[in-house]
Amino acid sequence: MRMSDVLRQLRQQQATAGARPRLLERFEAFLPVSDATPLLSLGEGFTPLVHARSLGRAIGCPQLHLKVEGQNPTGSFKDRGMVLTVARALEDGVRVLICASTGNTAASAAAYGAHAGMEVVVVLPRGQVAAGKLLQAQVAGARVVAVDGGFDAALATVRALIDDPDPRRPLTLVNSVNPLRIEGQKTAAFEVCEDLGGSPDYLAVPVGNAGNITAYWRGFNDYRSSGLVETVPVMLGFQAAGAAPLVDGSPVDEPRTVATAIRIGRPVSGESALRVRDESGGRIEAVTDEQILDAYRDLARYEGIFCEPASAASVAGVRKLAADGAIDPGATIVCVLTGHGLKDPDTARREQAVGTLDAEPTAAGVRQALGW
Ligand code: F0G
Repeated sequence: MRMSDVLRQLRQQQATAGARPRLLERFEAFLPVSDATPLLSLGEGFTPLVHARSLGRAIGCPQLHLKVEGQNPTGSFKDRGMVLTVARALEDGVRVLICASTGNTAASAAAYGAHAGMEVVVVLPRGQVAAGKLLQAQVAGARVVAVDGGFDAALATVRALIDDPDPRRPLTLVNSVNPLRIEGQKTAAFEVCEDLGGSPDYLAVPVGNAGNITAYWRGFNDYRSSGLVETVPVMLGFQAAGAAPLVDGSPVDEPRTVATAIRIGRPVSGESALRVRDESGGRIEAVTDEQILDAYRDLARYEGIFCEPASAASVAGVRKLAADGAIDPGATIVCVLTGHGLKDPDTARREQAVGTLDAEPTAAGVRQALGW
C-alpha cells in the first residue's frame, strides 16, 4: 500500500471512531445548554479511569481505580465546569470573568476566557499559589491580583466587587458559587459510570469548597434517575488536617496544611457536602499531611501517576479507611485525582527529589554512574 493510502486510512479510522467528542455536545441532554450555546472546547473531559493494580494491592483494595483529572486541558477537573460556564457567558454577551482561587480555578478561567476572547481577572491569596498555576493564569493573559489573607479573604473580596457592581464593567463570577460550574463538573461521574459499566461502590474525592463532591453526587443521581445506572456510590470526602472545617464542624480561621495548597476555612458548598455524606451513607474525614504526601509519592512510584498533592488526599483517605477495616476489600473504589503534579514543582522538589547522577557522556560513563 502507498504511504498516502496508509495515511488516508488512518485518517478515516479516526473519523469513524469519532474525533474527540466535545463535552458540551456529548452530555447535552444532561446540561443546561441550548442550540444557542457556543460549543466551546479545549478538549476537556474524557479523562482516563486507570485500574491501579499495584497500589490497590499494596493498600488492600484490589479494585482501586483512579480518575485522572490532571489530564484535562489546564491540568485539573475545573475545566469541566469552566467550559460550560464560559460557553454560557459567551452566549449571554459577557465580557469580563472574575474569580478567587487557590490556583486551579484561576488557570482554567484564564484559559477558557482567552479562548472565548474575554477579559479575565483572578484574585489570589498572596504567596499561597503553586508556581505552575500562577504561570498558567499569567501566560493566558489574565490579570492577577494578589491579596493578603487566604482563599476565604480572596473570595470575600470578589464577592464584594460583585455585590457593588460598576455598570461600566459588568463582571461574571466563575467560582463554584456559579451553579453552572457544578453542572459541568458532574460529567466526570457520567464517565466513571460508563467506564465501569455502572456506579462504583465508593467514590473518594478531596474536598475544599465542596463543589466537586456536590457535582459527582449530582452526576451519579442524574444517571440513576434516568435509568442508566441502578445504584449510586457511597461518597467519601477528605480534607487536609489543619484545613478541615467540615470535619471539625466549624470554620477554620487560618487554615494550615503543608501538603496541599487547598486551604479553605469556610467552604462555599459546605452544607451541601454534609448532605451528600448523609444521603450516600458516606464520610468526610481528615487526613494528615504525612498521609497525603505518602499517597502522593506512592501514586507516582506504583502507578506512574503524578498528581498534585491535594489530589492525593483521596487515596490517603481510602488507604486510612481500608487499614481501619472500614471498607470492604472487594469493593470497587474510584479515587479522583483532581490535578496534575507539574502544577506544583516546589512540593515535588521538596518531597520527591532524589537528585541526579553525574556521568561522562559515554556508555562507560553512564554504566559507572549507575553502578552497573
Ligand atoms: N483538588 C484540587 C487540585 C483543587 O484545586 C481543589 C479546589 C480541590 C481539590 C477541591 O475542590 O473546592 O470543589 O471541593 N481548588 C479551588 C481553586 C479552590 O481555586 O482552584 P472543591
